[in-house]
Amino acid sequence: MGKLIIDGGERISGEIRVQGAKNAVLPILAATVMADGVSVIKNCPSLRDVDKTDLVLERLGCIVRREENVVTVDTRGMCDCEICEDLMREMRSSIIFLGAIISRCKRAVVSMPGGCPIGLRPIDLHLKALKEMGVSIQEEHGYINCKAEKIRGGNIHLDFPSVGATENVMLAAVCADGITTVSNAAREPEIVDLSNFLNSMGARVYGAGGSVITIHGVEKLNGAEYTIMPDRIVAATYLAASAITGGEICLNSVNPYDMGAMLHVLEEMGAKIRCENSRIIQTAPKTLRSVHTIRTMPYPGFPTDIQSPFMALASMARGTSVFIENIFENRFQHVDELTRMGADIKVEGRSAVVRGVRELQGANVVARELRGGAALVIAALAANGTTSVSGVDFIDRGYENIEKYLQSCGAKIRRE
Ligand code: UD1
Repeated sequence: MGKLIIDGGERISGEIRVQGAKNAVLPILAATVMADGVSVIKNCPSLRDVDKTDLVLERLGCIVRREENVVTVDTRGMCDCEICEDLMREMRSSIIFLGAIISRCKRAVVSMPGGCPIGLRPIDLHLKALKEMGVSIQEEHGYINCKAEKIRGGNIHLDFPSVGATENVMLAAVCADGITTVSNAAREPEIVDLSNFLNSMGARVYGAGGSVITIHGVEKLNGAEYTIMPDRIVAATYLAASAITGGEICLNSVNPYDMGAMLHVLEEMGAKIRCENSRIIQTAPKTLRSVHTIRTMPYPGFPTDIQSPFMALASMARGTSVFIENIFENRFQHVDELTRMGADIKVEGRSAVVRGVRELQGANVVARELRGGAALVIAALAANGTTSVSGVDFIDRGYENIEKYLQSCGAKIRRE
């Protein structure tokens, strides 16, 4: 795995055009298999996880072509309905293909996803909902075998507003018999993006973005052309990178309305933020202020995905901040590495108490998962001296060319 070498102390100031959203593009690419035709997906970020999704599509028999940020998927030759263990292990979010494949082929076989660095990530809610829709599910030898002559619409209640489970139910329901109602659905903007894409394929999905989604089953879907929404987590990461270095940054191609909870925290820390339609302009304060308590919650609460980058910010703020991680049980792996850089953070269970320090020191640190890796890059940008962040493959799963964007705003960062 490569490393990022960062000489800290440069202000991150300038303009960045934010990439398309990873968490929107993955389910949308999965959804393409439901049409027997060609879909053209624009604004696809160039990421390891998108490459892996393309590979899943190819193994299913689809033809996938990428030209810059446009991915074309031709599903007419789709001939397989199984996702093998190696792909499932590499990318747990491949589980999102389950609803799409079963809808198209009436059969789907996926390897059981194992644990992942940020927690167990069970799929019980996905399977329970699919069973309620008439899918027969057998788990054997580490594989999940699904069959359904007919998928039935019905009332599905999710015990927790899981993003992946909501998406899988939506995918299974769009061509089901009758009407499906999903209550306690996840409300993330990426769910709305998936719903918009499905509707552009000819589906009838209503209410995405609210906690009740209604889906009227249709006979068939067509391929469609669609532009992926901006990545709100990447946008907030670059805001954090600029804020920790006292810079001024303008983000283009963003949707500020999706980012309320994150922008609110940045303002609480002293940043001045101005939002225009698809732009965010932020001026950092001289010294960041701590935040009282940040609790990660399902949308529209504070996203778990930005907890670690914002913890890097809090580690250099004046005062004490408390972070409570409510979504994933193992999402504090960046703490030991930030501590190596001089941060003062104490973890107890799901809470982390961060006492701001005046400065961080460059060190050799290891990214152990995607967002935790981004947190280390943010800390390194503000640290004294040089930091080497290894485990860059994790960062590449979600950030398109992170060093290029940061260099363009004045960072001294290179890849080795
Ligand atoms: C998605 C995002 C991820 C984000 C997360 C929460 C993608 C590709 N990934 O992940 O970046 O951090 O939402 O916003 O979109 N759970 C169960 N049983 C289930 C499903 C989930 O117990 O069947 C639990 C999980 O363990 C976790 C919580 O529910 O504790 C939230 O998970 P979920 O919303 O499903 O996250 P993902 O869809 O995996």
